[in-house]
Amino acid sequence: MSPLETAFDPERFRREGHAVVDLLAGLLADAQARRGPVLPPVDPAGELAHWRRKMAEPPGALVDFLREFAARSIQLHHPRYVGHQVCAPAPEAALAGLASELLNNAMGVYEMGPAANALERWVVEATAGLLGWPAGAGFLTSGGTLANLTALLAARNRRLGPDALERGTAPDWAVIASEESHYCTARAVQVMGGGRGGLVTVPTDARFKLRPELLPAALAEAHRRGRRPFAVVASACSTSTGSYDDIGAIADFCGRHGLWLHVDGAHGAAAAFCPELRGRLAGIERADSAVVDFHKLLLNPALATAVLFRQPGDAWAAFNQEAQYLFGPSAEEPWWDSGRRTFECTKLSLSLRIAALWRGGNSELFAEHVRRAHRLARDFAALIRERPGFEVAVEPESNIVCFRRTLPGAGPAAVDALNARARARILADGSHYLVETTIGGRRWLRTALMNPLTTLADLAALLDAVERESAA
Ligand SMILES: Cc1ncc(COP(=O)(O)O)c(C=O)c1O
Repeated sequence: MSPLETAFDPERFRREGHAVVDLLAGLLADAQARRGPVLPPVDPAGELAHWRRKMAEPPGALVDFLREFAARSIQLHHPRYVGHQVCAPAPEAALAGLASELLNNAMGVYEMGPAANALERWVVEATAGLLGWPAGAGFLTSGGTLANLTALLAARNRRLGPDALERGTAPDWAVIASEESHYCTARAVQVMGGGRGGLVTVPTDARFKLRPELLPAALAEAHRRGRRPFAVVASACSTSTGSYDDIGAIADFCGRHGLWLHVDGAHGAAAAFCPELRGRLAGIERADSAVVDFHKLLLNPALATAVLFRQPGDAWAAFNQEAQYLFGPSAEEPWWDSGRRTFECTKLSLSLRIAALWRGGNSELFAEHVRRAHRLARDFAALIRERPGFEVAVEPESNIVCFRRTLPGAGPAAVDALNARARARILADGSHYLVETTIGGRRWLRTALMNPLTTLADLAALLDAVERESAA
């Protein structure tokens, strides 16, 4: 057979596929049993040299190639992975992803993804329903960053008119967000042509939540800069500390001033899946748009984000300035042509992986995971507080816990240095993976409890490691 015939041979696919699934199941078992490092030693130059050598060798079996790749990769299914907000995907979602990749229904127009477009509509309606938007609409896109940009584009077109889309933009507008908002909000404003001055930030309180009473001052500041604010972005929750802004208070302000309220729920809107955590999002039912990442707390492989709009017509506003005129009250919106509303033209069938975990309309898997991760964070914070020589930055409201080792009598720089040292050593020995963040100019260790199998014992072992590795 020619290389092309071999590449497309169904029997070869079957054989290799079984071997690959066996490999992955073994890796999953190893990770869950805490065998091997969370992160193999990382040295960018050495890693590049390795793969340059490898790619020059005669090819072996695919399964061996993948085994080597996995052995040199970070293990998100290891319960001691408590780092960035990227989930350990549910294996079923990964299998759906394999199907989605082989079928490669690229979505942009209906014919290029009939089932994918219809399932996307189901996912979007179900998610909007959880936010309290029974008529809500939207679409899936590739990540929270792109999703926030898309929502802000829609907001600008709706509030300031489609001129920017038609004729380009003058930097005479602004967006208001908390100083703790994810950096992608500032980036979106810059990409939209607003420059640095296009984002007016609002200070946060001791729990790192936007201070709603300072919104009038932010509005005045925007006007002082000669700008017309059109939107406020609420964080639900913030990235650094997992703090939820008071969406209701922000909605009141937006209502009074005719501003669009966008909720960046990339991480924390997953709370909508748990009735007992729904209160974190109180007021979201009055927002105009929101984003929800399924690849953070909702067990999906990266990337898969819902961009949602309370008013269905707004779902067209980012890239279709004539939308409201094109589709009169009686005409049905052509929701099935995904590419007319998204930044992407070709797009993965993101809905399949999400829907695979939501079959039967049962979202208990998501709810259980979100609930467990939140409870674990509270228990972890309590454990830290009980432990001499440690402090918590703020009582966790989500699954994010920031803490640090303290040292009586040591100055701030020394404490920062010992925490940095502890983290560097822990990463080097591969026993855990955690990240760090800067809060109020100081260095804190940061954990996002993303893995359903992480236990309090894993986190106690992490504190032991920090204690040990922070020693000079
Ligand atoms: C609050 C918030 N918004 C947006 C993002 C960006 O999302 P993505 O990484 O999917 O682009 C993040 C990522 O951590 C986030 O925490």
